[in-house]
Amino acid sequence: MDVVQSSVYIGRQTPGTLCGSLIAPVIPLAEVVAIQSTLVSNYVNTPTYPGEYTGLVDPFCNVTLSLTHPGVKDTVWVQVWLPLEDNWNGRYSATGGSGFANGVPGEYPATQIQRGYATSVTDGGLTLNNTVEAQLATWSLREDGSLNYGLLLNLAWRSIHDATVASKALIQQFYGRAPEYSYYSGCSQGGRHGIAAAAKYPKDFDGIVAAAPAIFADKFPVTSFYPQVMMSHSEAPPFCVFEAFQKDIIATCDPLDGATDGLISDIDLIESCPIDWNALVGTEVPCGQGGQTVNITQLYADIVRNSTEGPRYPDGTLMWYGNPPGAFFDPVANTTTLANGTTVPVPALLWMQYLRNFVFQDPTLDVSTLTFENLTYAFEKSMAEIGPVLGNQQYDLAGFEKAGGKMLTWAGLVDNYIPPMGAALYREIVEEQFGGAAAADEFYRVFFAPGVGHCFGGNGPAPVDPLAAVAAWVENGTAPDFLFASSPNLQNVTVSRNLCRFPQKITYVGGDVNVASSFTCV
Ligand SMILES: *[C@@H]1O[C@H](CO)[C@@H](O)[C@H](O)[C@H]1NC(C)=O
Ligand SMILES: *[C@@H]1O[C@H](CO)[C@@H](O)[C@H](O)[C@H]1NC(C)=O
Ligand SMILES: *[C@@H]1O[C@H](CO)[C@@H](O)[C@H](O)[C@H]1NC(C)=O
Ligand SMILES: *[C@@H]1O[C@H](CO)[C@@H](O)[C@H](O)[C@H]1NC(C)=O
Ligand SMILES: *[C@@H]1O[C@H](CO)[C@@H](O)[C@H](O)[C@H]1NC(C)=O
Ligand SMILES: *[C@@H]1O[C@H](CO)[C@@H](O)[C@H](O)[C@H]1NC(C)=O
Ligand SMILES: *[C@@H]1O[C@H](CO)[C@@H](O)[C@H](O)[C@H]1NC(C)=O
Ligand SMILES: *[C@@H]1O[C@H](CO)[C@@H](O)[C@H](O)[C@H]1NC(C)=O
Repeated sequence: MDVVQSSVYIGRQTPGTLCGSLIAPVIPLAEVVAIQSTLVSNYVNTPTYPGEYTGLVDPFCNVTLSLTHPGVKDTVWVQVWLPLEDNWNGRYSATGGSGFANGVPGEYPATQIQRGYATSVTDGGLTLNNTVEAQLATWSLREDGSLNYGLLLNLAWRSIHDATVASKALIQQFYGRAPEYSYYSGCSQGGRHGIAAAAKYPKDFDGIVAAAPAIFADKFPVTSFYPQVMMSHSEAPPFCVFEAFQKDIIATCDPLDGATDGLISDIDLIESCPIDWNALVGTEVPCGQGGQTVNITQLYADIVRNSTEGPRYPDGTLMWYGNPPGAFFDPVANTTTLANGTTVPVPALLWMQYLRNFVFQDPTLDVSTLTFENLTYAFEKSMAEIGPVLGNQQYDLAGFEKAGGKMLTWAGLVDNYIPPMGAALYREIVEEQFGGAAAADEFYRVFFAPGVGHCFGGNGPAPVDPLAAVAAWVENGTAPDFLFASSPNLQNVTVSRNLCRFPQKITYVGGDVNVASSFTCV
């Protein structure tokens, strides 16, 4: 990749500042330590996620700055990418994290650049100055083993805000004017970032896409480890057993929404589908390439049922939602069969790291020793210690609503990382606060995507351009009634749907089940 110093680049027009001459913006309660800006003219993007731009990216000014919060001793890297004046659409569009990373520089911003947006991403200091992989969550502990609340706060909402303040100031310098509109778009941890931004800094963004938001982030990372705990203390079924149940669950629940299309489209079926958990007990299912089979035992059926229904307190109360019906059972209940025929649980890395680094604060903890009692304790400890920063206590949207902001959430109904019921529950909390569904719809709309996993993937179609939908809402007042979704399914057949505005439901009216026009919202 060639990086050209922009001070010799003459394409940049007045009235702004040359790329190479941008100066450090003022960020309240933070100190900018260093800033560098260079014009990048032949960056080729190789996408990691579906829907991302592939190929040569239009030239952009790559501004990199590092900042610190006195007292925290953090080193936070912020990257702001600015399209050249002629390519700029006058808008700013920020993005956020995934997993335990606050943001990963690269592909997503390239797509935004190509669409003409000025964009930003920040590591939130979680890479410890590019020395660790943030995803492993080891940054959460200080050297003395205590929780690093400064970095937790960065992840919670501080760093997206700092990056936004920096970006808006740099946009002003570079183009000589402020962005006409500012947007945020992210999925998973990045979805939670969107909701947190709306709540904490209601004027940062005019429009927000908060996809598959990791809200209730103090709860589901603990309860998602429940299948692993069960299996460590009983037996790990070969993974083909989970696959057989997944197929059976889809066969049972799919027709109950009115269309046999391979997709469970009614969110209520997550809790109400009458799955006969014992139907497969005693049957033999194919397992592996060599024509082997496995007999499904009662214990296997119990493990699958409990993984789907979620863990319960001893009095029967649900702690949190399980893996949604129809979803893949990995990573939550992943197992692997060794060469000698023994099957062992494969702990999901994210939830294992959460328990080690956030909850038990012991980075080398052998999670296979954790009992159900340990998990219940971890759930309480997580809510008490992590809840105030990453839980939902702070997500009051009153300021955002008052500021005229618009936000949409979409989530896959077979999300195998974050139970989609959390997004439904949050929307219901918003409805309650604002006086019903119609009042909430004025500024916050939620769409569920049947058959879609976490942010993308699965058998169902994902939204094509939710940011465009929120931009149309902000700029033209056209509130999205539905979200158009289209993707190849697992058989590589393109399937489309108009995702309905929750609590409306996709309803079959007749015709080809692969096309959106065969369905309506009721
Ligand atoms: C942007 O600048 C930073 C700092 O110089 C550099 O590490 C990064 O690779 C640059 N990005 C691109 C796409 O050139
Ligand atoms: C961060 O890393 C860079 C490059 O290795 C180094 O020059 C700088 O001093 C580091 N910053 C801090 C605060 O340690
Ligand atoms: C499944 O859940 C029930 C109810 O909480 C519990 O009694 C049972 O022990 C669990 N089964 C396994 C294998 O953990
Ligand atoms: C499954 O159970 C049947 C009947 O009990 C038995 O004949 C068969 O050998 C078992 N198969 C396997 C793979 O264990
Ligand atoms: C499940 O475990 C297998 C074997 O270790 C691994 O290859 C696979 O990536 C795991 N799946 C997920 C989703 O983590
Ligand atoms: C199979 O291999 C694993 C890993 O090497 C070992 O822990 C286990 O005891 C073996 N099981 C049998 C039945 O030999
Ligand atoms: C799990 O519970 C047991 C029994 O109370 C306790 O001895 C052990 O320390 C707990 N494990 C962790 C990691 O807290
Ligand atoms: C899926 O279909 C498209 C268009 O028909 C084709 O270009 C692509 O290669 C197919 N992908 C796979 C994995 O089969």
